[in-house]
Amino acid sequence: MDSFLIKGGTPLHGEVQISGAKNAVLPIMAATLLTSEPCVIHGVPDLSDVKFMGQILGWLGAKVSVEGGTVRIHARKIKGDGDYDLVRKMRGSVCIMGPLLGRLKNTRVSLPGGCVIGARPINLHLKGFAALGAKIRIEKGYVKASARRLVGAAMFLGGRAGSTVLGTANVVMAAVLAEGVTVIESAACEPEVVDLINFLNAMGAKISGAGSPTLTITGVKQLHGAEHEVIPDRIEAATYAIAAAATNGEVLIKGARVDHLHAVLDKLREAGVVVERKGANLLVRRNGRLKSSDVTTLPYAGFPTDVQAQMMALMTQAPGISIITERIFESRFMHVSELARLGAEVEIEGPSAIVKGGKPLSGAEVMASDLRASAALVIAGLAAKGTTQVNRVYHIDRGYENIDGKLRGLGARIQRIEET
Ligand code: EPZ
Repeated sequence: MDSFLIKGGTPLHGEVQISGAKNAVLPIMAATLLTSEPCVIHGVPDLSDVKFMGQILGWLGAKVSVEGGTVRIHARKIKGDGDYDLVRKMRGSVCIMGPLLGRLKNTRVSLPGGCVIGARPINLHLKGFAALGAKIRIEKGYVKASARRLVGAAMFLGGRAGSTVLGTANVVMAAVLAEGVTVIESAACEPEVVDLINFLNAMGAKISGAGSPTLTITGVKQLHGAEHEVIPDRIEAATYAIAAAATNGEVLIKGARVDHLHAVLDKLREAGVVVERKGANLLVRRNGRLKSSDVTTLPYAGFPTDVQAQMMALMTQAPGISIITERIFESRFMHVSELARLGAEVEIEGPSAIVKGGKPLSGAEVMASDLRASAALVIAGLAAKGTTQVNRVYHIDRGYENIDGKLRGLGARIQRIEET
């Protein structure tokens, strides 16, 4: 397993290009299962999760080819069984259920299971499928959904933490070929869901309300192929903005969608970070000392849970107390103990982490545990004095395209140690 060796203390300077959004491209790749015609997706990031989704689609019978940032997928004939290993390994692949149910009226995938950040149930996905008329059976670690017919229905998809991103994506993809009209209340409003809906409408679906909590889907007989450019990754953009602030540097973030980042930019400004729009780009730098700030994660358009760990790394550099409250996942503080190894003072009180910031961090060996926690450890290592080794960086390769190369392009002293 590879590691990163980071020599901290160098302010980041220069320009970084944001890649396509991982959490948009995964459901969009799954959506190509809904048509027997070829689809082309541009702006696809080179990530292990994307490669894995391509393998899963290939396993289901689709022809998948990748050249540069373009993925061509032709699901002319497919089967409904998601192999236990494949779906089990990557939770994001649960979003093949909706299109398989929509097109074949039958699907069987392994229950995705939990991960380090929480139990990750799919009860709301299954509630939506059942509302459309599917029969749901859970046996031997698999979940099966089948229906003679899928009929549009009204449903409420809100759960314990508000809306569900992949739950909304899955149910929408099951509803686009159903007979009649489906209305989803408490739908997810994330930009990645909007991007999926735009792709589905380009395929001939009839979906309105994208970006709002109420989606209306009028079923159609079939969908045709389409070509699509994926939106830029707002979480990657937020991660580089925070890295610039944490190292007291100045970075031009190119290709981000500022309209997807309001909550993050508002919080960064409150923390004393200067964020200026330069056309379609963002110039981020620190203006003197950071200020402690409180953060609570919420469904979009609130502060994204996927930026919580990175924000915590920044707040360790802000003198004073910052309270970071995680409202989306039940155990998304794995990075706290690793940040403590770098000298950070953070105490967990239920859903909140109390950060006593302002003390300089010093390098140490740390362990990545999940995708965004790894990003937080890299940011902390860049800000720390001395050398930090981040182990198990395969976590980070799932969601950040060439992060060490992009950081070196900004002057960071970071190298990848490939485990022999
Ligand atoms: C998506 O996961 C993202 N993943 C996550 O990004 C992101 O953190 C999350 O949305 C929230 O924004 C992808 O898009 C591939 P949810 P998803 O369903 O859809 C509960 C990253 O780092 N819930 O919106 O699986 C759930 O337990 C990853 O890129 C139910 O209770 O998340 C959680 O507490 C991590 N029942 C909350 O809802 C359900 O049926 C939100 O989960 C579904 C979810």
